[in-house]
Amino acid sequence: MPSTPVPLHVSQASGRPLRVLVASGPTHEPIDSVRYIGNRSSGRMGAAIADAFAGAGCAVTIARGPGALPPTQAVQQLAFGSAAELLTVLSQEWPRHDVLVMAAAVADFRPAKALAGKLKRASGHVQLDLEPTEDIVAALAAAARSDQFVVGFALEPEADLERSARDKLRRKGVDAIVANPLQTMDSVTVVGRVLLADGSWHMPAEGAAISKQEFATWLCKLVLPLAAKRIGARS
Ligand code: CTP
Repeated sequence: MPSTPVPLHVSQASGRPLRVLVASGPTHEPIDSVRYIGNRSSGRMGAAIADAFAGAGCAVTIARGPGALPPTQAVQQLAFGSAAELLTVLSQEWPRHDVLVMAAAVADFRPAKALAGKLKRASGHVQLDLEPTEDIVAALAAAARSDQFVVGFALEPEADLERSARDKLRRKGVDAIVANPLQTMDSVTVVGRVLLADGSWHMPAEGAAISKQEFATWLCKLVLPLAAKRIGARS
């Protein structure tokens, strides 16, 4: 399906390309020196989003978690392992970007204390003490300037998707939430929809399952004019 290009003026801010920061893939939370708590995120959605914004003429930085698929376009790439490392990378990068797309599947809990060396089987029954990780997108949205635009994600069971997206949009203080069902993780297709801060819902392809590349192109077209408007209000 040929896609309509995004007009140049919406991918530019004050004559320079819009700067888009994408976080993608899983985090690994160390249990000991060789084991971790992870998740099944492939990074496919984040890579597709980075490609879509780069294809629209934006200057893109992608922070990729362990094993996350790379984008095909030549964009700046950074690496992270744990949620704490992702917070460090994004905190450094966020001030010089206009848009954050938080597609990373961040662990909600990490072992309170990572053990040095390798836990021995002979230790017998082991209990892990888990502590919550920092809500990274909420922290970055709270630190955002009025000309920056933040997109979060909500991965939830279909039955609770819309209620949960509304809750996350408010709780995390983001400008938009991409709501997708649990089946999206590690899949090549997505049935996603987007909730904006004004309460409006937006959906590509009338709710049909589409490839993550198609979804990313659609998302980019939805977000760019909104982000450009915000920068326009500043200048
Ligand atoms: N997120 C984050 N930091 C975390 C956990 C999640 O920045 N420690 C971000 C994700 O990248 C995503 C959004 O928050 O953009 C929603 O993630 P999700 O796991 O669906 O929600 P949670 O914050 O974990 O909330 P809950 O436990 O209520 O599902």
